[in-house]
This record gives sequence, structure tokens and C-alpha cells, in this order.
Amino acid sequence: MSNKPNVTSKPVQAIKGMKDTLPDATHIWRAVEQVCQSVLDRHNYRELRVPIIEKTQLFARSIGADTDIVSKEMYIFNDRNGDSLTLRPEGTASAVRAGIENGLFYNQQQRLWYCGPMFRHERPQKGRYRQFTQLGAEAYGWATPDIEAEILSLLDRMFSELQLEKTHLEINSLGDSDSRLAFRSALTAYLRDYADQLDIDSQRRLDSNPLRILDSKVASTQAIIANAPSLQTYLSDASKQHFDQLCEHLSTLNISFTHNTQLVRGLDYYNDTVFEWINEDFGAQSAVCAGGRYDSLVSQLGGSQTPAFGFAMGLERLVQMLIEQNAPITRCNTKPDLFIVSMGPEARNQAVAMQQLLCQNGFRVQLHCGEGTMKNQFKRADKSGAKLALIIGEDEVAKAQVSMKVLRGEQCESAQKMIEQKDVMNVVTNCLESL
Ligand code: HAM
Repeated sequence: MSNKPNVTSKPVQAIKGMKDTLPDATHIWRAVEQVCQSVLDRHNYRELRVPIIEKTQLFARSIGADTDIVSKEMYIFNDRNGDSLTLRPEGTASAVRAGIENGLFYNQQQRLWYCGPMFRHERPQKGRYRQFTQLGAEAYGWATPDIEAEILSLLDRMFSELQLEKTHLEINSLGDSDSRLAFRSALTAYLRDYADQLDIDSQRRLDSNPLRILDSKVASTQAIIANAPSLQTYLSDASKQHFDQLCEHLSTLNISFTHNTQLVRGLDYYNDTVFEWINEDFGAQSAVCAGGRYDSLVSQLGGSQTPAFGFAMGLERLVQMLIEQNAPITRCNTKPDLFIVSMGPEARNQAVAMQQLLCQNGFRVQLHCGEGTMKNQFKRADKSGAKLALIIGEDEVAKAQVSMKVLRGEQCESAQKMIEQKDVMNVVTNCLESL
């Protein structure tokens, strides 16, 4: 038998398509989330938190069995009871489930938002991951286009406060159920003539869900679709009027948009208004945010008839776009205000207390921990990016004083200054304000 231990030294790596967000980036994420959440607060949306795992049938019944998400991309597993569970691929289905289960839609209107990880087994590439983060909002109980304008306006506000550039809004109408029924029969009749030239997936969808064929990425199918009847010519008067009214609201709000008649969404629950915010500079995965109206989903999942409209935004894409544009929010400061250097056992004892006091008063403080010469500690203080160093040595302990040295800016050449311990808070506050 070999004496070698039965372990491999090869490190375990993360799952393909699932990324770590390291400390150099998390502060940007927090700043971005703060802006988005502040805009949602100002529009009076309230946060909903739901589990990241749901029963598989929830997604099959809402997103649509024929969609790529449900047919190819979900992380499905059986738990120890043999129940089929799924890591959520999006948040809308869970929001509806939670709303029905907790009576949120009963005689009430709701403005809700959520943020968290979603999972889709897609081919990873720039802006497309297998675990990604969506920040979304859903409004329940309004059938009118003013709620759509409100949501598009709050998104516009987020992008403007984040100083995100080169992002534009595309909208379309998929029509109400009457419009889609009329369109469906015209489309099916047209596509039947080309049935043998369609790709396999589209042939399968011809009977089950012909509208999904319009979303095909296969070139030969796209060529056939190019001459297919257009949904726009089958829109009912009510749907047309709804869409026109939304366009008017957007003009009033000064939000520019294009009407993209080719815009169909990859999920089945939508009717009437759909939209995407696109950043063309970003490459293939250019949609930073997408959504639309889904008036049948609540009743389809067992609730009472409740009109609904919402969006979800991919935060990995949003943060990456802001970084690529060198937006000011990506340059936010995470350096300490102060670094505390100490020498000797009693000085160390006073240093921990000094950090406690300064942190209590709102300063960001890095304490030197462990051994280290003065020279070595000053090197670390400099590397930390702190503006000030506080030094506590034997001398300072004996005199109940602290030395202060400016590390940044013009004053960094000046000598360190002794201050009384009792005056530290005032002196530090004034000094940081003057830097
Ligand atoms: P969705 O278009 O599937 O819609 O996703 C919304 C956004 O999530 C996309 O525009 C994109 O920014 C981001 N996203 C989607 N997949 C990935 C991925 N694999 N990697 C990185 N980011 C991704 C929905 O999920 C609907 N629930 C939106 C909605 C809410 N409709 C009504 N309410």
C-alpha cells in the first residue's frame, strides 16, 4: 500500500459561471444598491424577501414550459423527500406566489421590490452567468399605463443618479389576449407553409407555442420569420390605445424611447407593454434591465385576477457597465480615515480603546494588530491610504497624550504633533475636515 495520504492538493474551484465578488468590487455594489434602493424608497416601493428555492412547478406554470429557461436552463433537484425543487431563475414567479400565499393581493394594491441571486444554466460569457443578481420591482393592482410610466420613470431616475450613460429604452406591445389569439392563428397559418424548413425546436413549438418561434436565434428560421405577419397589425383597439397612452406619458416625462416591434420577451407570461433598457456598447448581453405587463399570471397561479407590471435588472451587467464607463460611483472611497500605530503593552491597550472611541464617533479606523517595528507600522499606515496616523508609544502613555501625523496632502511634510488624549476627538475632526 502507498504511504501517500489519500488527498489531492489541487484547490477546489468555484462552479463554472458563478463568480466571487471581491472586496475591491463589493463597495461599488453596495453604493449601486444604495442608489437603487433609495430611488425605490422615494417611489414608495416596499421590499419583499422570498426563498431562493421554490417548487419546480411554480416556474413551469409561470415562465412557460416551452421557454429556454424552463426547458433547458433551470437548476432542478430532488430534495430528501423526493420533491422536485428549483433554484429560482427569476423573481417574478416567487413574488406572485408569495403575494397569493400571504393575501397581499386581496383587496389591495402593492408596490414591491426584491434583490437577490438567480440561477440559470446558460453558456457563460461576458454579462451572462449561471448565478447572477437581479434587483426587481413589481406593481400589483393597476391595469393602466400610468403605473408603467411610474416604473420606467424610476428606472430613468436610477440610471441618471448612477450616471450610467449610453443606455436607451425600447418598448413594444404584445397585445391583449384577443390580439394574440388573432395573431396566433395568422402566424401559425404562415409558418405551416415553411414547417419542414424550421429548426427542430421551432417545429415542436408550431402547435404548442408558435409565438415563441419569433424568439428563435437560428438564422434559417429568422429568415422565415422576417416575412411573417406582424403582431402590430393584429393589436386590438384597447391594446393600441393603452400603448399610445404610455407613449404620451413617456413624452411628458421627457424619457426618450424607440418602439421596437421585434421586441418579444423570453418568458411567456407577458401581455401588452414589454420593454428593455439596452446598452449597445456592452456587447451581446446588452439588456441591463427588462420587464413588462403580466395581467394573467396571478390568476394563472391560483390567485384572483390582478393586473401586474414589473422589471428586473441584472446587477452584474449594471456594475460592469458603470466600471467600463468609469462612472463616479465606481471611484467611491473605502480607505480608512485613521491608522493607529502603537508600541509597548500599555500603548496597545490604549490603542484598542482609542479605536473603539473613534469608531463609536463615526470614523473609519484601522488598528495595527500584532507585532511590528515603528517603521514597519508606518509603512502599513501609508499603504492603508489613511489620511491620519495616531501614534501611541511609551512617551505618549506616560504623558496621557497621543501623537498625530498627517499622511496625505500638503501637510504630510509637517512634523507629528502631540495632543492631549481628552482632545483627540476635536483635533481629529478639525484636522480631517481641513484635509
Ligand atoms: P429577464 O429578461 O429574463 O426577465 O431578466 C432580466 C434581466 O436580468 C436581464 O435584462 C439581465 O440584465 C439580467 N439577466 C438575465 N439573465 C442573466 C444571466 N444569465 N446573467 C446575468 N444577468 C442576467 C426576468 O427575469 C423577468 N422576471 C423580469 C420581469 C419582472 N418582468 C416583469 N417583472
